[in-house]
Amino acid sequence: MTKLKNLDNVQARIDTYLTAKLDSLARNDEKLLAAMRYGLLIGGKRMRPYLAYITGEALAAEQHDIDGVAAAIECIHAYSLLHDDLPAMDDDDLRRGQPTCHKAFDEATAILAGDSLQTLAFDIIANHDFSEAVTSKRIILLRYLVNAAGYQGMCGGQALDLAGTDKSITLAELEHLHSLKTGALLEASVMMAAECSQQATENDKKQLVQYAKLIGLAYQVRDDIIDITSTEEELGKPTGSDLAANKSTYPALLGLSGAQEKAENLYQQALQALSTLPYNTQSLSDFATFIVSRKH
Ligand code: IPE
Ligand code: IPE
Ligand code: MG
Ligand code: MG
Ligand code: MG
Repeated sequence: MTKLKNLDNVQARIDTYLTAKLDSLARNDEKLLAAMRYGLLIGGKRMRPYLAYITGEALAAEQHDIDGVAAAIECIHAYSLLHDDLPAMDDDDLRRGQPTCHKAFDEATAILAGDSLQTLAFDIIANHDFSEAVTSKRIILLRYLVNAAGYQGMCGGQALDLAGTDKSITLAELEHLHSLKTGALLEASVMMAAECSQQATENDKKQLVQYAKLIGLAYQVRDDIIDITSTEEELGKPTGSDLAANKSTYPALLGLSGAQEKAENLYQQALQALSTLPYNTQSLSDFATFIVSRKH
């Protein structure tokens, strides 16, 4: 499996940032803060931050600007997982090799920790000390984050996922729901990082959107595949969860090999989108390779 260059550094850097952010919050309910820490800081591959940093690096953005973008997106992602695991949604007991937040704490606390991590993302975009050039783009960054996280993005996709449970949906409907529930945040990771660059042209951004949409969709296709093919130990979350819940997934609709073919197809298209960009996009293509081969 492809190893991602500098992943350890990115993980350490984002953990330091997020830890400092949580430490800076005025103390009130200690249990809620502990649950936020649990959801945000225990494990996680940090793929969205990684994607933001490598996009920023390819486009010569300042790393300090990417810190804000990456941290905000990871907060939305962490919140989405706390809520995704709740009994009312996927009802899972294991996440990142540990009991899910509502198991380690309680349901009300997991709901509130998710809510608080969501608002923390907007706190970060509103208050991070971006460079002068990026400070003037705060509203643009906020717009990306809102679109990716809310009804038009992740939450909308999660609702379609629930609506597509226990019934058959078309491939087009499945692609739409995957693009929203998982693709949107990965797309935001690329595009918010691109906004931090002074040299990305409108045409570059068009190509990057294409790349991001393709790998965003591929990320969830692979997630559906490894839900079947991986072990609980490797994944750190239950396997067979989608099947047990009768979810609409690519393997459910196309079979395992059909789903693998779909992932490979998306991968090839993503490489093609990158090929027209006048930058060193090696890390971005390595990331695409990682996504479609990852085992956890
Ligand atoms: C899991 O995301 C949920 C999806 C959107 C597919 P990740 O696979 O990125 O989970 P962590 O953050 O590494 O635990
Ligand atoms: C992605 O889907 C979930 C989110 C958008 C939060 P899954 O429900 O498949 O994610 P896992 O498999 O529980 O991590
Ligand atoms: Mg789910
Ligand atoms: Mg789930
Ligand atoms: Mg899954």
